[in-house]
Amino acid sequence: MRWCLLGLLSLDIDMSTLGYLVPRKSTFPSGIKALADYAHGKGLKLGIYSDAGSRTCSQRMPGSLGHEQKDAETFASWGIDYLKYDNCNNGDLKPMKRGDMHPALWADKLGNSWRTTMDINDSWESMVSRADQNEVYAEHARPGDWNDPDMLEVGNGGMSNDEYIVHFSLWAASKAPLLIGCDVRNLSKETLAILGNEEVIAVNQDPLGVQAKKVRMEGDHEVWAGPLSGYRTVVIQLNRSPEFRIITAQWDDIGIPPKTVVEARDLWKHTIMDKRFVNKVKANVRPHACKMFLLTPLPLSE
Ligand SMILES: *[C@@H]1O[C@H](CO)[C@@H](O)[C@H](O)[C@H]1NC(C)=O
Ligand SMILES: *[C@@H]1O[C@H](CO)[C@@H](O)[C@H](O)[C@H]1NC(C)=O
Repeated sequence: MRWCLLGLLSLDIDMSTLGYLVPRKSTFPSGIKALADYAHGKGLKLGIYSDAGSRTCSQRMPGSLGHEQKDAETFASWGIDYLKYDNCNNGDLKPMKRGDMHPALWADKLGNSWRTTMDINDSWESMVSRADQNEVYAEHARPGDWNDPDMLEVGNGGMSNDEYIVHFSLWAASKAPLLIGCDVRNLSKETLAILGNEEVIAVNQDPLGVQAKKVRMEGDHEVWAGPLSGYRTVVIQLNRSPEFRIITAQWDDIGIPPKTVVEARDLWKHTIMDKRFVNKVKANVRPHACKMFLLTPLPLSE
């Protein structure tokens, strides 16, 4: 199922006198239900944005504070599939009572994913630091409950192609929601090759639902790894330095039993490596780049 998240829908919603949200006629002449029906007819799902305060973060639209039940009923009646709920302008309400600190620790009872970081921006520093902050909460991710290090900046132009590949690889292996943050009307070939990498998306959607972790860190290079269904493992060798680095992923670090022979598939080159690997996979990684391998154990042969 493909998702279509229209986070900006709320920019054109007004509050009626009865306290119900109403779509602005000039933007949604047929209403939002008609739009949802249209999206569903295309095999897409539709998301909407609101806020737990009196106004949204832009200050321009009403939030849901005091109207939670009515708004939830309204969204459901429109056929909305997904709600992003922000937390601006929440007045004097005590943060801990509302639970706005570290939602990874409590939000599984309320939603299917929660932000673990402040907002991302379109820079290498921002992107890798969001990945780091999100990694801390890895144990809280499971099917139906996902950590969200914020949306993807892929395609927005502030990072190199290699850096965007790192971005998508880390988000996918971290089982983060893959919310496209660029203008989809103008995707370059390179951007499309990243966002459309079905093998990497399959890692993200793997039914085991275990978030990859940073299993080794040596200065500015790192190994991230996590188990996948079928006794497979995803491994990312991440070079955060401005120079080439040889990065070794050891079975011991990534949770593969010793002496296991594996086949390694390069998920960005879409090829299986000629060589079989025992005990480690070594890679020469460009500056601010990564390798991402899918490791599949081979049956013992005599
Ligand atoms: C983006 O985020 C980085 C790291 O968090 C910060 O140093 C930088 O100032 C931010 N850039 C902009 C344009 O906000
Ligand atoms: C992006 O695509 C839209 C719709 O096709 C077009 O109107 C717009 O000019 C494009 N913008 C750029 C920067 O190419």
